[in-house]
Amino acid sequence: MLLLYACSSDELKNPLDVELRKLVLRASPTNDLDHFILPDANDFDNIPQEPANPLNAIKVELGKMLFYETGLALDPKYPEAKNSYSCATCHIPEAGFMPGRAQGIADGGTGFGLNGEGRTKFFFYADNEPDVQGARALNVCNVAFVPNTTWAGMFGATDNNIGTESKWTGDLTFNHLGLQGLETQAIAVQSVHRMLINKDIVDTLGYKHYFDAAFPQFPESERYSEVTLAYALSAYLRALIPHKAPFQNWLKGNESAMTDQEKRGGILFFSKAGCYKCHNGKALHNPNQFYAVGVKDLYEAEGEVNKTGLNDKRNLGRGGFTEKAEDMFKFKVPQLYNMHGGSHFFHGSSKKSLREVVEYFNDAIPENSRVPASQIAPQFRALNLTPEEIDDLVIFLERSLYDPQMNRFVPQEVLSGFCFPNNDIQSQNDLGCN
Ligand code: HEC
Ligand code: HEC
Repeated sequence: MLLLYACSSDELKNPLDVELRKLVLRASPTNDLDHFILPDANDFDNIPQEPANPLNAIKVELGKMLFYETGLALDPKYPEAKNSYSCATCHIPEAGFMPGRAQGIADGGTGFGLNGEGRTKFFFYADNEPDVQGARALNVCNVAFVPNTTWAGMFGATDNNIGTESKWTGDLTFNHLGLQGLETQAIAVQSVHRMLINKDIVDTLGYKHYFDAAFPQFPESERYSEVTLAYALSAYLRALIPHKAPFQNWLKGNESAMTDQEKRGGILFFSKAGCYKCHNGKALHNPNQFYAVGVKDLYEAEGEVNKTGLNDKRNLGRGGFTEKAEDMFKFKVPQLYNMHGGSHFFHGSSKKSLREVVEYFNDAIPENSRVPASQIAPQFRALNLTPEEIDDLVIFLERSLYDPQMNRFVPQEVLSGFCFPNNDIQSQNDLGCN
């Protein structure tokens, strides 16, 4: 009876669902759909976390404000730029938590435009003075599933970084704390991004009771510090999970969550287009693999005023961190949710749309002549997709992997009352803060 029932219900199914399901199961290392199902953003028990920084609602709520809080921008190169930037200056929600331009500019930048594209260097900063980095800012969605952060995976004491201890110098000294990548990076980058925190600042901005409620186990002398700020920011980012994306709803059994075209795109992703061969982690990233696909570096991006150079070690990917020949030019396999909205793609911002990304993988011709052919991933080879197939795959990336309700992760206001994510005068105008 049961068998018969299963058969007849299968017959009623859209063959696209049957095919997609089969392919997703094949790509799943655990042979079930659960592997690809993201936990709900408030399902703290099922979100991976750093044992020293257990998730709770107060920490997440506090981090949600601090990520956007321009009141922490207290160590700029010039006093005129005080309180003008935040983490979200380079990780703008509507721009896929990326900068909305090829390169983010925090301290030393002015303006926002519609979505980050209008930011330029403050005229009184010399070219080498703004806070800019030698790679495009990563989308921070789903970072809970990333044990070692950055394009090179250099932050974090666990997982891939066991055995790299001799490289933990400079900013990476914080790896010796033994924490996972996210918490480590959140501590390390506060000085990189010219932010300050202490008890007076916390009190003045109005966050003291939040810190007291979030970190009661810290003695007061350590409660308002780089570490607690990092823990709150990390808690917010761990819960930044686009679990309402249509593909997620489809995986959970709602077959009408995706259109037939999106399903065809999903089928291509998990078959002919070969994307799943590398993007097969929970967030369609890969937490443990680094590959060279031969894209250009950030200093080659067009139209940027604050490019970093040929010798930036970020151009070497994981090899710039481990200094091993086998790691040269290999970059992390990034997650693919809510990339739609981003203005530039790949670590060097060489592509301006998801369509251009798909065309690049379809042609499989490396564009960076510095990357030796022997380093290029064997999975990077021409796909022979038809124009219709390219359309379908792009729609899958743009729609099926896009959670449209990301507003739930953006605070109504920050306690300082300042404009955010930027607070320079031009940004205040652009953002409608006046
Ligand atoms: C000036 C722009 C800028 C600002 C400001 C900024 N970031 Fe980033 N962020 C970047 C860049 C660039 C990368 C990629 C760096 C790399 O891979 O070398 C990045 C990467 C990250 C990642 C790694 C994600 C992953 O999947 O590996 C996290 C987490 C992160 N940022 C959090 C923060 C936090 C928290 C703040 C505020 C304290 C912040 N960022 C402020 C530019 C910025
Ligand atoms: C060889 C493994 C591999 C395969 C196969 C692969 N990717 Fe990737 N993907 C990567 C790596 C590595 C990066 C980062 C490259 C860089 O920026 O240097 C990346 C980057 C991307 C990005 C840009 C993300 C960002 O943050 O800018 C998108 C989108 C993407 N891949 C989608 C796809 C799609 C769609 C396919 C199938 C057509 C695919 N990938 C096939 C490894 C792979």
